[in-house]
Amino acid sequence: MSARTIRHLTDAEVRGQRVLVRVDFNVPLDEQGHVADATRILAAKPTIAYLLDRGAKVVLLSHFGRPKGSPNAKYSLQSVVARLTTALSPHPVSFLAETVGASAVAATKALANGSVLLLENTRFHAGEESNDDGFARQLAELGDVYVNDAFGAAHRAHASTAGVTQYVRPAVAGLLMERELAFLGDALETPEHPFVAVLGGSKISGKIDVIEALLPKVDRLLIGGAMACTFFKAMGLETGASLVEADRVDMARDLIARAGAKLRLPTDAMVSTSMDDAGRAHVVAREAIIATEAMFDIGPDTIKVFASDVENARTVLWNGPMGVFEKPPFDKGTRAIADAMARATDGGAVTIVGGGDSAAAIAEAGLESRLTHISTGGGASLEFLEGKTLPGVAALDQE
Ligand code: 3PG
Repeated sequence: MSARTIRHLTDAEVRGQRVLVRVDFNVPLDEQGHVADATRILAAKPTIAYLLDRGAKVVLLSHFGRPKGSPNAKYSLQSVVARLTTALSPHPVSFLAETVGASAVAATKALANGSVLLLENTRFHAGEESNDDGFARQLAELGDVYVNDAFGAAHRAHASTAGVTQYVRPAVAGLLMERELAFLGDALETPEHPFVAVLGGSKISGKIDVIEALLPKVDRLLIGGAMACTFFKAMGLETGASLVEADRVDMARDLIARAGAKLRLPTDAMVSTSMDDAGRAHVVAREAIIATEAMFDIGPDTIKVFASDVENARTVLWNGPMGVFEKPPFDKGTRAIADAMARATDGGAVTIVGGGDSAAAIAEAGLESRLTHISTGGGASLEFLEGKTLPGVAALDQE
């Protein structure tokens, strides 16, 4: 399933039509309840602007959080209205505290060409996550054309991402969806070499499928984060109090044997007695982790080697932090990878970041504009990279 076989926004006639756009406005809020990171809203803007410019009536659908099938004020999409309005100014944005039903349908029909209506959280209805046929039909009544721009939710077979397309056609990919599938798909199918993948995070169990999928394609696989400790254990090293997945040690041993020289593991580590004890943080060789300490970041020697691999690559794919980057000094490895990716881009490489924590680290370092593509999907980009078919993509019209 790639961007090459699905139908796109540009294939649909939208003027004067009610265009039902599934977006992913599942954004973090700050303590005051305001949008803390508008990346996903801004990422949907090109599709919305495209439709507005062509005189469409834009009806936006999204999930927000996990309210588990019933209304809950904490998860109302009302929270994103102010930020969305600023983003789309001067186009008018209205919000209706209903998702489906007579008043929602009436509101879509009352829309003027070139205006936007945001409906309430799809997950306020149990039928959303169960991909209920009746709920999908109700959603379909809200539009004449369906556009899925919610790459971040494309791995969910829900009524608003999958079922609805049975009842509203055309069903096409939005510009963000198209861009995500193009960059991630090209990295997998036709990467320029050297192709380097950088994987981090705490657990090998969550990344094993992506490691397996990438191993035959990459020239180097760099592994950091606490995940590296499960590999250390497999090498017979003392890992102290580090996070180790005991039931994955055999798997790590097998990967080390199969990957050979492609696999690079950290050779040194930033350790401490606790991730909250920055004062005791210090660097040790990976052979010198003691029983009372744990690894919370990759060390400086590893940073040098990883950064040089990244800078010498023509394609780089990164998913998962190298350490506990929210807690300095354990942010150094992650920041160094972000910097090396930016330099690689400057040198002409294609640099792609899977969503989630690594995207947050890039944003924190202010490097967003220096990378080729930062995915808006965490789980979705991982599943795509694992080679799985995303239900939200499979449900769209194919050429
Ligand atoms: C995300 O934040 O990764 C997407 O919006 C999907 O959310 P979910 O994991 O609650 O389905």
